Amino acid sequence: MTKHNNTFLLLLALTLAVFFLSQQVSNANGTSSKAITFSKDVAPIFNKNCAECHRPGESAPFSTLSYKDVRPWAKSIREKVARKTMPPWHADPHYGVWANDRRLTKEEIDTIVAWVDGGAKEGDPKDLPPAPKFPDGWTIGKPDIIIQMPEAYTLEASGPDEYQYFEVDPGLKEDIYVQRAEARPDNRKIVHHIIAFVRPPDTGGKPRPNLSREEMEKLRQRMEKESPRYREGFLVRTKPDAPVVDDGCASPTSGRFTRGGGQEMENGQLLAGYAPGMNQAVWEPGTVKRVPAGSKIVFQMHYSKVAGSVQKDRSSIGLILARTQPEKLVHTFGISNNMFLIPPGAGNHRVTACWTAKEDIHVINFMPHLHLRGKAVEYKAFYPDGRTEILLNVPEYDFSWQTVYYFKQPKAIPAGAKIMVTGYFDNSTKNRYNPDPTKAVRYGEPTYDEMMIGWMDYTADKERAKPSVASKE
Ligand code: HEC
Repeated sequence: MTKHNNTFLLLLALTLAVFFLSQQVSNANGTSSKAITFSKDVAPIFNKNCAECHRPGESAPFSTLSYKDVRPWAKSIREKVARKTMPPWHADPHYGVWANDRRLTKEEIDTIVAWVDGGAKEGDPKDLPPAPKFPDGWTIGKPDIIIQMPEAYTLEASGPDEYQYFEVDPGLKEDIYVQRAEARPDNRKIVHHIIAFVRPPDTGGKPRPNLSREEMEKLRQRMEKESPRYREGFLVRTKPDAPVVDDGCASPTSGRFTRGGGQEMENGQLLAGYAPGMNQAVWEPGTVKRVPAGSKIVFQMHYSKVAGSVQKDRSSIGLILARTQPEKLVHTFGISNNMFLIPPGAGNHRVTACWTAKEDIHVINFMPHLHLRGKAVEYKAFYPDGRTEILLNVPEYDFSWQTVYYFKQPKAIPAGAKIMVTGYFDNSTKNRYNPDPTKAVRYGEPTYDEMMIGWMDYTADKERAKPSVASKE
């Protein structure tokens, strides 16, 4: 035994000696023989971790696909990568394991930093790996179905942001099962975000009861008076004097005003979204989103104006249909509080919303959505057996990045478990994005109002989608 151990130690010592020696030799030689170059060492990292956004036509300010485009940004790249502000990723690594975790490894960061410090050399272009492919500009691949806004919308040159809704009938004769969905802005100068909803035929798709114009107007006025919300132009806002519920979890209404209860998204189920840094909806094979026959697709467009210039936009969404037997349906739900009030100047205002699972489910992803005063957000589970678990923590929420956090393994949530979403808001002068620290802020669609929505996609364990698609293919 001892003999073996000694041999082992000797071998280990030798190996270490050789290792340190080789380190020394390469240091003494300078790194010339092993110089880090763009073509060989850095391009593969950029292709894998940056090109998704840093390529022509995308949201980032430069392309990482060629040395020529990258070189002028080398210093900035070093800084952003070393400080971990790029790639954008805001989840606390202590909680949850995420399939789309964008963080670079230490080795990747060191390689990029050493490359810039060594003069950001190009190297031999022959070493360059093939550029990643993005067919027709779509990130999800070539769509089977493209649904476009019915016509181009013209945005005037001045005034506040606009939220516009457009409804499209894609003419679906039968249910479709969506595997991947992407919303794609047409005019990136003005499209701040796109949210595409499914409006199934058995709800909003039905023709409205035949009310006369006066009856409609009366109904509208009554609803307006009773509702804690009102419209300012296109935008839904909570009335300044509506009842206040900050701690939704402690309130019988859960901090939600809903007409008819249940799903609070009045526009139906979220299908695809676009916002800076937002991931595309990509579900695992077998896990699909059903869009029932006869559904309409509703585009909610948030436009920001370009001062002094009239702009047009006709955005679209692309869908890739399931190729395999659909097994489970994706449900999208927003755990939200829409009755809170953030006092003027408050630096760390806490708002909660809760939701209890009625059956065993598996959560696929979370997408926290706050606006400009959003500071931090957390999803926490309270299990029936008394255990608690932080599911996602975003300690420095940043409105610029609407990240969807995909669990590496869908997260099992048993019936009876409560999920609490807690948002923290900074309405003080310290928040440099704050549109107006002197205002009390309520829930509303404009970005100068606030939101507190913990979106999630989940599947119900006992549910199976109708197996109609795969048999046809
Ligand atoms: C999810 C999309 C996305 C990914 C992935 C991403 N970026 Fe960015 N990047 C952006 C956007 C959008 C901006 C401009 C807004 C900003 O600076 O926050 C930006 C800005 C930058 C800037 C600052 C440019 C300036 O104005 O100085 C650098 C440098 C940068 N990115 C480098 C990288 C590198 C290197 C990677 C990969 C290792 C990467 N980014 C990954 C979207 C992305």
